[in-house]
Amino acid sequence: MTSILVTGANGQLGQELQRAVPQGVALIALGRQELDIADASAVSRKVAEVRPDWIINAAAYTAVDKAESDEEMAMAINVTGAENLASAALEFGARLAHVSTDFVFDGCKSRPYQPDDAMNPAGVYGETKQKGEQAVREVMGDDALIVRTAWVYSAHGNNFVKTMLRLMSEREELGVIEDQVGTPTWAAELAKVLYLAIDKSLAGTYHWTDTGVASWYDFAVAIHELGRSMGLLPRDVTINPISTEAYPTPAARPAYSVLSKEAMRQATGYTGMHWRAALNNMMKELENG
Ligand SMILES: NC(=O)c1ccc[n+]([C@@H]2O[C@H](COP(=O)([O-])OP(=O)(O)OC[C@H]3O[C@@H](n4cnc5c(N)ncnc54)[C@H](OP(=O)(O)O)[C@@H]3O)[C@@H](O)[C@H]2O)c1
Repeated sequence: MTSILVTGANGQLGQELQRAVPQGVALIALGRQELDIADASAVSRKVAEVRPDWIINAAAYTAVDKAESDEEMAMAINVTGAENLASAALEFGARLAHVSTDFVFDGCKSRPYQPDDAMNPAGVYGETKQKGEQAVREVMGDDALIVRTAWVYSAHGNNFVKTMLRLMSEREELGVIEDQVGTPTWAAELAKVLYLAIDKSLAGTYHWTDTGVASWYDFAVAIHELGRSMGLLPRDVTINPISTEAYPTPAARPAYSVLSKEAMRQATGYTGMHWRAALNNMMKELENG
């Protein structure tokens, strides 16, 4: 048996990791109440007690806009929390799979970001995630496994899909950003790939999202289409493409967020699922309650 300790068990990824446990894995999934990763001594005590083979860090401060005015808390969770887990993993002989984000990049490229592309975050959240990665690498050296992902959603938790379904059931018309592109990623697929990566004992920095590319507008149109066909939306809604400029937010977002999955595909032998098929699967879960 491989024992895996999961932090942030009540988040989107944390929940999907619990639903997808492969055979031969014993999972200890801890929510924030059971383990606050920002508390170094609590982390050390828990890892000493559980003695996991691996830790998956699915805990994070993920409120991108709020982070702009709440830097201290974002740093405590995304940097100190990551460092605490790395230190405890090193001390007690565990491996660490740490999850990071496309927001470590500035989004100025027009070809998929490679894992070794230079990081240049545009906002506080991205900076804290960059520093968290660096802390993990400094503590664990070549042993660290870091998996960056993007545009994550699942049936559990708050995300773009659920926000769109709510707005589409309340409004007749809505504007959605057309000039930011990336890849929607179902947390269930990310969970699956993290287990594959652990099974292969991978180390280093990798990317994982679903396959294909979309703008937020494309994503919204697909949500509307599937929502209507599944009976999740009572009537048609007009969705208008808008520019980033027309929808100002406290944090800047990368215009181009597509991540190259090639290294992870080669290492795990798994190609991935097109974002649209993954969205269909997630929305079927919503349909079935
Ligand atoms: N969501 C995205 O679009 C996205 C995109 C790129 C990368 N990522 C990365 O993917 C990973 C998983 O994200 P997600 O979407 O699953 O996030 P999520 O749904 O926001 O879940 C994060 C979980 O971490 C918990 N948490 C916060 N502070 C904690 C602490 N000090 N100790 C323990 N747990 C704590 C949160 O608990 P509370 O709810 O109680 O605060 C929450 O349950 C994160 O590393 C994130 O940075 C996410």
